[in-house]
Amino acid sequence: MSNLGHEKVETNIGLMVVLVTIALSLGGLAEIVPLMYQAEAIKPLPGVKPYPALQLAGRDVYVREGCYNCHSQMIRTLRFETERYGHYSLAGESVYDRPFQWGSKRTGPDLARVGGRYSDEWHRVHMINPRDVVPESNMPAFPWLAKNTLDGAEVTAHMRALKRLGDPYSDEEVANAAKDVAGKTELDAVVAYLQALGKHAPRGG
Ligand code: HEC
Repeated sequence: MSNLGHEKVETNIGLMVVLVTIALSLGGLAEIVPLMYQAEAIKPLPGVKPYPALQLAGRDVYVREGCYNCHSQMIRTLRFETERYGHYSLAGESVYDRPFQWGSKRTGPDLARVGGRYSDEWHRVHMINPRDVVPESNMPAFPWLAKNTLDGAEVTAHMRALKRLGDPYSDEEVANAAKDVAGKTELDAVVAYLQALGKHAPRGG
């Protein structure tokens, strides 16, 4: 009897397709559904807050300029990485990153822990012409960032959209966003963003 059932499946391609589809769907669901709940359960690490206006604007510049094409923000759990950069990256550090800046493209160093490693002045010189501080650098120069001033309305709109998506910005933070970036350049914003990277990372290797 069971032999007959088997033969029926093996000789009926339509039935086989249906059964294979069911088996694959069940397998897929078993893998995907738990991940969905896990993503929801990830909490920000202590101290991790949505980006303040200036840093948010800096992050937008970072994405616009394609810095991620050469820089990742994800330290892996490998010893040579943690010894060079610090504690490996945790999901709770990037809950407010939309889109996240992880990755494995390392033309330049990983930037997940770069905050506080250099002075603001170093970053300003480096962004305008990397070769002025790192003679062998092949990073492109971004001189226009120092000339472009930020658009307060744009930053406010971005913050409002993030708040709608669930980021816990207060009404006051949104209301003050334009004032917070008034008169600042894109360079000020990128430097503020870079200096905050990894600030709430766990300490040690
Ligand atoms: C074409 C590849 C490339 C792009 C695009 C690029 N970088 Fe770099 N970056 C590098 C390389 C290579 C280095 C290492 C040499 C140096 O310090 O200049 C570097 C170094 C850095 C450092 C110093 C990191 C450290 O730990 O010493 C910072 C900060 C940085 N880049 C920020 C940026 C930002 C912000 C952008 C976008 C506006 C950007 N980079 C775009 C290649 C790139």
